[in-house]
Amino acid sequence: MRVRNISNAKELLKEYAYYIENPSLSKGNWKAHFKNHNPIHIEIGMGKGQFLTTLAKTYNSINYIGIEKIEELVLKSVRNLENTEISNMALIHLNALNLQDVFLKGEVKRIYLNFSDPWPKARHEKRRLTHSNFLKMYRSILSEDGEIHLKTDSLDLFEFSLGEIDRESFYLNEIIYDLYNKQYNEIAKTEYEEKFISQGKPIYKCIASINKD
Ligand SMILES: C[S@@+](CC[C@H](N)C(=O)[O-])C[C@H]1O[C@@H](n2cnc3c(N)ncnc32)[C@H](O)[C@@H]1O
Repeated sequence: MRVRNISNAKELLKEYAYYIENPSLSKGNWKAHFKNHNPIHIEIGMGKGQFLTTLAKTYNSINYIGIEKIEELVLKSVRNLENTEISNMALIHLNALNLQDVFLKGEVKRIYLNFSDPWPKARHEKRRLTHSNFLKMYRSILSEDGEIHLKTDSLDLFEFSLGEIDRESFYLNEIIYDLYNKQYNEIAKTEYEEKFISQGKPIYKCIASINKD
């Protein structure tokens, strides 16, 4: 995702209540942050945050945390939340490599990976957010009933991800090729998803879980 560099993004972010400046202080304590015991769903690589904002408005009994490594995109996301009254959402500037600094084992019920960078070159395989190294980390923060929900337009990334998910002994509950051809109803769409749908590209989706349902 191309973004304009904003030199004082870090400073600007501090003005927004949805932005969590020191998320590691909430590790093991997110329930206190949200002031309830509702499950936590996170999106890794939220971009401008459209998907999670739609979900947060729709389901107020889930707490949503958006994670993004590009500061300017976190700033865009918090700005998009201005004048909304959403109480179940928080945004973090973080590289997914450091997820364990922010979440304790069992603290997260669902991880969304939407249109993650495909990193097509084999030598960049470890950067893919579904590489087994990342999946191991996801397992270490997910609850017993935890799930990973993945959507992508890249068949190569999808097939790589299915292989890695299987290798890491997650259960694959749903595998959908060409999501919108199956008349599947998606309540929330991402910015990339809308673009790919308008181009007529197929979208691939899978849901993996720690345990069998
Ligand atoms: C292709 S964009 C998709 C954005 C959004 N999910 C969508 O579907 O519109 C991928 C996003 O993931 C973010 N990202 C990639 N690797 C990441 C990482 N290791 N940790 C956090 N965010 C990451 C990128 O900065 C980018 O915003």
